[in-house]
Amino acid sequence: MLKVRDLHAGYGKVDVLHGVSFDVQAGECVALVGANGAGKSTTLKCICGLVDVRQGRIEFEGTPIQGLPGHAIVRRGITMCPEGRQVFPDMTVRENLEMGAHTRRDREQAADLESMMELFPVLRARAKQSAGTLSGGEQEMLAIARALMSKPRLCIFDEPSLGLAPKIVAEVEQTLARIKAMGVTVLLVEQNASMALRLADRAYVYEAGEIVLQGTGAELQSHPEVSKAYLGY
Ligand SMILES: Nc1ncnc2c1ncn2[C@@H]1O[C@H](COP(=O)(O)OP(=O)(O)OP(=O)(O)O)[C@@H](O)[C@H]1O
Ligand SMILES: [Mg+2]
Repeated sequence: MLKVRDLHAGYGKVDVLHGVSFDVQAGECVALVGANGAGKSTTLKCICGLVDVRQGRIEFEGTPIQGLPGHAIVRRGITMCPEGRQVFPDMTVRENLEMGAHTRRDREQAADLESMMELFPVLRARAKQSAGTLSGGEQEMLAIARALMSKPRLCIFDEPSLGLAPKIVAEVEQTLARIKAMGVTVLLVEQNASMALRLADRAYVYEAGEIVLQGTGAELQSHPEVSKAYLGY
């Protein structure tokens, strides 16, 4: 479904990605793990059209997408749930969800809004409240639901558990598992490597702008270097 080949990208004079290649098959959950600053978020931003690709290719469902503007990429079926949630704080929960559907041309938004409220009952309870007043965990649920409102075929998550209490992290994990079960293909970046590798069918390990290891989630969980560097055992 997604094919990334020899991806190079950076900021100004700094090169961050030095030839990254990976695949995501339809229906899979693929995780990108690795140290701070290794280039995981930069990779996601390249896919979503937020950072320029300097060299290489990104194909989605057989068509090159690099160089397309962000809204065109969303229309093709890729949505990112960004790091730090980035809900619109002064808009209500309902308005945030409606914003998630703004690139859609069909007329099923109302039904999907209803199903998001069912999936996340807390959002129904807070529908008229401004999003900035939600707790961190509630904002994460809103950011996830807003991303789903675009009806993505590939949903990308950048650090969904960041800064959340353990109980909420567990809820995020359950939510991601449910999203995968709904048939949405998932590309996940997570500092919480044990959660990422539990969820992932396959994962890639980043180091300084390159992929240095890959395998199934289970293989990497028991890989000595991965467990020592990222899992703490
Ligand atoms: N807008 C920017 N301008 C300049 N440099 C940037 C910018 N965004 C990221 N970088 C640099 O690019 C490198 C890779 O950053 P990136 O955010 O992709 O890493 P990451 O793997 O997502 O790290 P983390 O796990 O901390 O989120 C870092 O050295 C970072 O400082
Ligand atoms: Mg990052």
